[in-house]
This record gives sequence, structure tokens and C-alpha cells, in this order.
Amino acid sequence: MSKLSSATLAARAGVETDTAHGSVMPPLYLSSNYTFDGFKNKRQYDYSRSGNPTRDCAGTAIAKLEGGAGAVLVASGMAALDLLTYAVKPGELIFAPHDCYGGTHRLLRSKAERGFFRVRWVDQTDLQKLEQAFAEEAPRLILIETPSNPLLRLTDVRAVCTLAKRYGTLCAADNTFLSPVLQRPLELGADIVVHSTTKYLNGHSDVVGGALISKTAELHQDFAWWANCIGNTGSPFDAYQTLRGLRTLEVRIRQQESTALKVARFFEQHQAVARVYYPGLTSHPGHLLACRQQHGFGAMISFELVGGEEQVRTFVEALQLFSLAESLGGVESLVAHPATMTHASMDEAARAKAGITDQLIRLSIGLEGAQDLLTDLSEALDLVAQTLPAPLEVAAA
Ligand SMILES: Cc1ncc(COP(=O)(O)O)c(C=O)c1O
Repeated sequence: MSKLSSATLAARAGVETDTAHGSVMPPLYLSSNYTFDGFKNKRQYDYSRSGNPTRDCAGTAIAKLEGGAGAVLVASGMAALDLLTYAVKPGELIFAPHDCYGGTHRLLRSKAERGFFRVRWVDQTDLQKLEQAFAEEAPRLILIETPSNPLLRLTDVRAVCTLAKRYGTLCAADNTFLSPVLQRPLELGADIVVHSTTKYLNGHSDVVGGALISKTAELHQDFAWWANCIGNTGSPFDAYQTLRGLRTLEVRIRQQESTALKVARFFEQHQAVARVYYPGLTSHPGHLLACRQQHGFGAMISFELVGGEEQVRTFVEALQLFSLAESLGGVESLVAHPATMTHASMDEAARAKAGITDQLIRLSIGLEGAQDLLTDLSEALDLVAQTLPAPLEVAAA
């Protein structure tokens, strides 16, 4: 059959593979261990840290969606990023985005401080600066995060990977914000894709998990070896839930994206909003790049409120349909204040360098009715507007 769409791959993953009972859906194997078929006769699985049929089924599905040779499923997105760092030896250099997810920043910073590797923070949206950084010293690994969390800045994956290949640098891309439905970094030249499967891939806010997908079988085997060695592989139950969530990924993210575009356009018009960050808006500096390298704009929006802490508090407390919580990509809409929540692990100076202000608010748009969400946001913003000083009357000419 010709190349299958992501919707088909996700819906059919593991279906009719149960040889024991012919169950239509793949069963959940919770057993931690497996019998040997006889002395010195190991079956395909022996111990669930090393391999598990349910985890393999979900991993194969995710690898197919990203177009990779294999996927290692691990206990969290951070575990996936940590596993990635096993590609780098002490003394070697990693380039990472200066405005990445706060947890990624903390991981790389803390491991670098302990001498696991060296890290250089680079603004990867500026290709000239990046070329200069490569010319000064090429890294062993470059980590891309696009769109970035929380400012939704876009990096040109093809351009960065082309540059990196000239220096023999491995390229990894964190694809958490878009999922393989909306962006496939391996097709753009990346060697590795990182996911927090906690987010869109599972999509129901009831699993914490991660995945590392490699383009080549060789790289995949390396990461699978390390995952077994350090024991950070994901639980079978989480893999089962993730596979279940994956089946509806395409319809979920398309619907969420359609609402997100309406919300972003509404924000552009509101007096209490100083600035909107959403790649689907033509005003976004990365809009044309998004049209070129993405298959959609996603469902994450960030924006700056007019005012200060009082206005932020008024807004988040007025919302009825957005839960004030970290994480993203679930069926339920969420509101987060990056400076005090998702990016609190970055110090103030690093946040300022990344452009994360105290007025910045991040929304994860869920599957509620678009009009309900717009009404909720509109009422909250109107309340904020009431707290602002009245605009000065422009003197008549
Ligand atoms: C872009 C990105 N990468 C990685 C992670 C870490 O994932 P997890 O929370 O599953 O460890 C997050 C978490 O928010 C994220 O937003």
C-alpha cells in the first residue's frame, strides 16, 4: 500500500497483532518479567525494563508517525532529553536555544556545571549568529526547540540542520509543541526528535512520558541501550494510555488549532492585550517559515497583558474554562504564567534574556467549544481593561 497518512497510522497501530486471542486492540502487558522458553533460550522479551510489548507497540507507532527508525519511550519528556545527552561525552559541546523550556534549561545547565558536557546558549532564530557560533567551535549536538516554549519563536530546522551537517553535528529537535501531525523534523534534516508525550501525543493529561525518536537504526539502538542501562524506560501502562491517546491525535490537534486561530485573532483586537505570539498570525515574525516547514500552526498561544501583576491575577482568576496549571496539549484548556510556573527554574536574568516577561501568559487551547472559550476570555479581558487607567483624551486639533 502507498504511504499511509498519520491518521491511518495512528488508528491502525498494533490493531490485530494479538496472536494469543485475536483481540482487535493490542493488549496491555504489565508483567515485569517473561519466562525463558528453556535453558539458554530467551524469548523476544525477558524483563520489562529492557523491553515490553506494549511499550514497543506505542514506540513503533510514534516512530512511524515521525518517520524514524525507532523510538525509545521513557518516563518523561525530561528523561527523553536526559537520554539525548548520552550522545555527548565530557568536554564536548551542546548548542541549545537560549529560550527553551525551563526544565530543559535547568537540565543542561546543571549537567554542564557537573562536567557532563559544555553548553552554549544560542539564539537559533538568528542564522548569522548561529553560523558564527559554529565557526568559533562546532558542537557535537545541537538541540532545536520549535516552536519554542513559551514564546513560540520559530527556528528554520532545514537551515540549521544543513549548517550542522557541514560540521558533523548531530541535530535533535523538540517537537512537543506541534506533534508529528503538524511538523516532522526528521524530514527537514534532523537526526533525532524529542517529545514530551505528556502533551499532545497522549493528549488527555493523565500520563507523564517522553520519547526519543531516531532517524537511523544505529542511533536508535544506542539510545535503547542507554535507556536499559540507566533504567529510565517508560511504564507499560503509560505506553498503553499514550497509544490510546495517539489514535485521536490528528482530529484533536486540528480542532484545537482551529480554535487557537480564532482566539489569537480575537486577542489582536483587544485593548488589554499588548502583544500576541501565535505563528498562525501574519503579524508573527515566523509566519512564512511556519507556512513552509509546518503542516499547521498548533494550539499554543502566548500573549502579554497590558499592566502588571494585578492585571495578570485578575485575568487568571476570572477565567472559568481555563485551568491555572502547568503542562499543555490536553483536551482541557489551560492558562499558565511562565515566569512563576513553567519557567520558574530559570533565573531572572536567563528569563529576561529569553524575553519572558512578568506580563507573559501562555494558553493551551483544548477541545471545549470555541465560542465558549472566546466568551470566557473576552469576559476576563474586559475585567482587566476595567482595572487599567482610562486612555488619555486626545486633544481635538
Ligand atoms: C517543549 C518541552 N519539552 C520537554 C518538556 C518536558 O516534558 P515532561 O514534563 O514530560 O518531562 C516540556 C514540558 O513542559 C516541554 O514543554
